[in-house]
Amino acid sequence: MKLNGKEFEIYISAEEMAEIVSRLAVSINRDFVEKEPFFIIMLNGAFMFAADFLREITVSHEVGFVRASSYEGTQTTGKVKVHTPIPDKIKDRHVVILEDIVDTGITMNYFLSELKKIPTKSISIVSLFVKPDVLRGKVKIDYVGKEIENRFIVGYGLDYDDFGRNLEAVYILKR
Ligand code: IMP
Ligand code: MG
Repeated sequence: MKLNGKEFEIYISAEEMAEIVSRLAVSINRDFVEKEPFFIIMLNGAFMFAADFLREITVSHEVGFVRASSYEGTQTTGKVKVHTPIPDKIKDRHVVILEDIVDTGITMNYFLSELKKIPTKSISIVSLFVKPDVLRGKVKIDYVGKEIENRFIVGYGLDYDDFGRNLEAVYILKR
């Protein structure tokens, strides 16, 4: 499969993605009973994950959006930008961040430092994917969908320069 001039191959099927997302939703439904969490969807990458995940959320909750970016092409730039204001409504709430993937943790650490300027009851992170760097303890991900190897993936919201976000399955860049 070719996207924007690069070759990708199937990595995680749509069926497995659905199982991963359901498992995460079950955990949140169990842990946030009567906590009325405020979900922050990290745009752009988490849009498809969040749409499927939230359909399986049974606890009372609210949803807001934030757009942050650090990637260009297949590499992180290391410079994080938060392009949208953090919703005021998170004040004194249990905040649950929905992220597509945490790689070096730079984006999440920067976002957390901004978020912590606002008093909340708790902050939890749900990430569909994590890469090995993160596993070295740079940032604690409370709910991990799947640990993946240190390679570039696209699909299910994740992009290669904005291509491939609509794919139902996840594809990996060919070596
Ligand atoms: P970090 O700051 O290195 O943790 O990068 C996190 C962000 O980079 C994620 O929110 C994604 O948008 C993007 N990213 C990291 N790895 C990948 C990948 O394999 N495919 C697509 N985007 C990625
Ligand atoms: Mg992202």
